[in-house]
Amino acid sequence: MTRSLLVTGGAGFIGSNFIHMLVEDRPDWRVTNLDALTYAGNLENLTSIEGHAGYEFVHGDVTSAADVARAFEVAGRDGAAVSVVHFAAESHVDRSIASGLPFVQANVIGTQILLDAARGAETESFVHVSTDEVYGSLGATGFFTEETPLAPNSPYSASKAASDMLVRAAFKTHGFPALITRCSNNYGPWQFPEKLIPLMIANAREDKSLPVYGDGQQIRDWLFVRDHCEAILAVLERGTPGEVYNIGGHNEYPNLEIVHQILRHLGKDEGLIEYVKDRPGHDRRYAIDAGKIERELGWTPRYTFEQALPATIAWYGSQEEWLRRVRSGAYRDYYEAQYGGRPTG
Ligand code: NAD
Ligand code: TYD
Repeated sequence: MTRSLLVTGGAGFIGSNFIHMLVEDRPDWRVTNLDALTYAGNLENLTSIEGHAGYEFVHGDVTSAADVARAFEVAGRDGAAVSVVHFAAESHVDRSIASGLPFVQANVIGTQILLDAARGAETESFVHVSTDEVYGSLGATGFFTEETPLAPNSPYSASKAASDMLVRAAFKTHGFPALITRCSNNYGPWQFPEKLIPLMIANAREDKSLPVYGDGQQIRDWLFVRDHCEAILAVLERGTPGEVYNIGGHNEYPNLEIVHQILRHLGKDEGLIEYVKDRPGHDRRYAIDAGKIERELGWTPRYTFEQALPATIAWYGSQEEWLRRVRSGAYRDYYEAQYGGRPTG
């Protein structure tokens, strides 16, 4: 056992991709997955990992000091030194517009509880997985750098910015070895079909309408999830404590163009597109300058959008049962069948 990693939110989209990558690329690491199994947590993302030696799931909430302490005990058993990669969060902007408080609880309070426990456990390093949305919105030109002032516009991004500040404070005040990553929009396998790309794929496959907010000309900088996971691993292994690393794909597309590409790949009609009322406070454009992580840690994205979008569409096509169980809510029964009891979230 060379390293013990506590991953929070490992049953979600990026966390589960990260665990799959670790099992392939760092097979001798111990991986403890602390997840509350909210609606976004799906243990069916990890079925192929369940028997892996060194992997353990801990059902618990980062807002509970007792749950977090239990997870550190599991990760640190036999005296192992523990590192943390913190994914757990409420992550969907539209849900934060409907109700902000769960975002403050999970993202802000949960991060502080985790930081306190991690300091107490003398954690080796702590990677806080944040988002480019903390920087706010760009005009037609320019990029977010690590020096761009934080100006979040949604309750989601405001709660992530607050958590970033708490992580920064832990480093500045206590010398706690924390690092922050800020990534652009991800796409790929196991993404909950409420986010743009999996929602449009799932709806188009079923000939349901594709809701495009406003004029559809908002721009996001899309990154394949595996590239994000490799960047986080680079930060964990080679990053400098106290530093922020932006992660992005130099891959900007307006939403409408993404929707058209999905329709073309699936051979579906553009008539499925339905323009709906715009999202309040909708950020117009995100774009990342990832020069720092490229220069200092030698990370660059490996997947092009031209390869990875069709591969992602094909993945959802090959996972009809997974998608059906997510869309029907049946995935929520998996925990009960495996572990007994209902998920709490
Ligand atoms: P997700 O919503 O798919 O998964 C979140 C996971 O966290 C779920 O498994 C959920 O059960 C768990 N969780 C939520 N609240 C919890 C709590 N209180 N205690 C324990 N577990 C809890 O999210 P994602 O898209 O995988 O994003 C992961 C992280 O990456 C988030 O911090 C998000 O802000 C950040 N991020 C996401 C993107 C993106 O495009 N998806 C981009 C940049 C950064
Ligand atoms: P989303 O996937 O929710 O990510 P984020 O808001 O965190 O960037 O949305 C991506 C973009 O797609 C965003 O500009 C909002 C837009 N969008 C739609 O037009 N329709 C939809 O149904 C969704 C979910 C998003």
